[in-house]
Amino acid sequence: MNNYKKILVTGADGFIGSHLCELLVKKKFNVSAISFYNSFGSNGWLDYLSKDIKDKIKIISGDIRDKDFVSSCVKRQDVIFNLAALIGIPYSYRSTESYIDTNIKGTFNLLSASKKQKIKKFIHISTSEVYGSAQKIPITEAHPVVGQSPYSASKISAEQLCISYNKSFALPVTILRPFNVFGPRQSTRAIIPTIIGQYMQNQKILNLGLMTPTRDFNYVEDTVHAFYKCINAKGISGEIINIGTGKEFSIKVVAEIISDYFGKKIKVKQEKKRIRPKLSEVLRLCSSTKKSKKILNWRSSIKSKKDLKIKLYETIEWYIKNKKLMKINNKEYHI
Ligand SMILES: NC(=O)c1ccc[n+]([C@@H]2O[C@H](COP(=O)([O-])OP(=O)(O)OC[C@H]3O[C@@H](n4cnc5c(N)ncnc54)[C@H](O)[C@@H]3O)[C@@H](O)[C@H]2O)c1
Repeated sequence: MNNYKKILVTGADGFIGSHLCELLVKKKFNVSAISFYNSFGSNGWLDYLSKDIKDKIKIISGDIRDKDFVSSCVKRQDVIFNLAALIGIPYSYRSTESYIDTNIKGTFNLLSASKKQKIKKFIHISTSEVYGSAQKIPITEAHPVVGQSPYSASKISAEQLCISYNKSFALPVTILRPFNVFGPRQSTRAIIPTIIGQYMQNQKILNLGLMTPTRDFNYVEDTVHAFYKCINAKGISGEIINIGTGKEFSIKVVAEIISDYFGKKIKVKQEKKRIRPKLSEVLRLCSSTKKSKKILNWRSSIKSKKDLKIKLYETIEWYIKNKKLMKINNKEYHI
């Protein structure tokens, strides 16, 4: 039984948002989805969902930086999932103000409208990037936050606004901190699709940045399942919850698994332009899974290298099948 019926998803046109909308429709919620307005009439990945799912989603195009627009979307909703954000780390070095406007001001608009509308649950999607390089592994929710990039700083600020709305106005806000997500539909700017794309282009040399940083790689379907669990979970207001696997793998290991799939070893060249400024580079991320297990009764399906390999292979097959949809990005990437 679902306690709440009407759900608004921001960033629904994106990678994770489109998977979340798909799941929520399957779970019989009444889903409204904000897609970022553009002059091409595109609703991003929502346009590629199967017709029976897409027809059940109310798509509203607009901009979360616009207070009046946000206010009209939040009306009569029960639960808000806030995923809309600018997420590229390299772009955040160049266009910091747009991160402040979207990630901070956009979140403020949503919080402010949710307070007025007495929203039942506000689930804010933050990121493991707020931790900076791990000072202690596994990373628990009590680990300090360090803004090692303008992206991370904008997400920390948005979290703090969420916390303030919970403490000052009793808005039932929950902050989720997903660790690296991968799977079908991810932008080819992200590390896993970057590697897959270069193999698919039959490049002689794999152009990458640092190979040693580790990440906690979670499969997108697992991640959105954790988001979904929040809808009916009790006692999560004011809580911060990591969404990760509890396993860490280096970029080198991920590249090796992908290389095994394609059955060819290619030389790796470290390109300077792909390396972050030294103090901005996040060297290790690995989540504690205790709280998500206890409070959401959720665990990732990735529990070993073998599981990671299965999900990476599924992802590669999706990219091969959908080659025409993806623009291979050879210039920069974010992890
Ligand atoms: N991908 C990951 O590994 C990862 C990990 C942790 C957290 N996250 C968080 O998850 C959320 C979704 O990330 P994603 O990977 O799906 O990224 P994405 O870029 O695919 O999706 C973000 C969406 O936000 C929309 N958007 C941007 N600015 C907007 C605006 N002003 N108004 C309305 N919509 C706007 C974009 O159109 C985009 O589709 C983000 O908040 C991100 O910080 C992602």
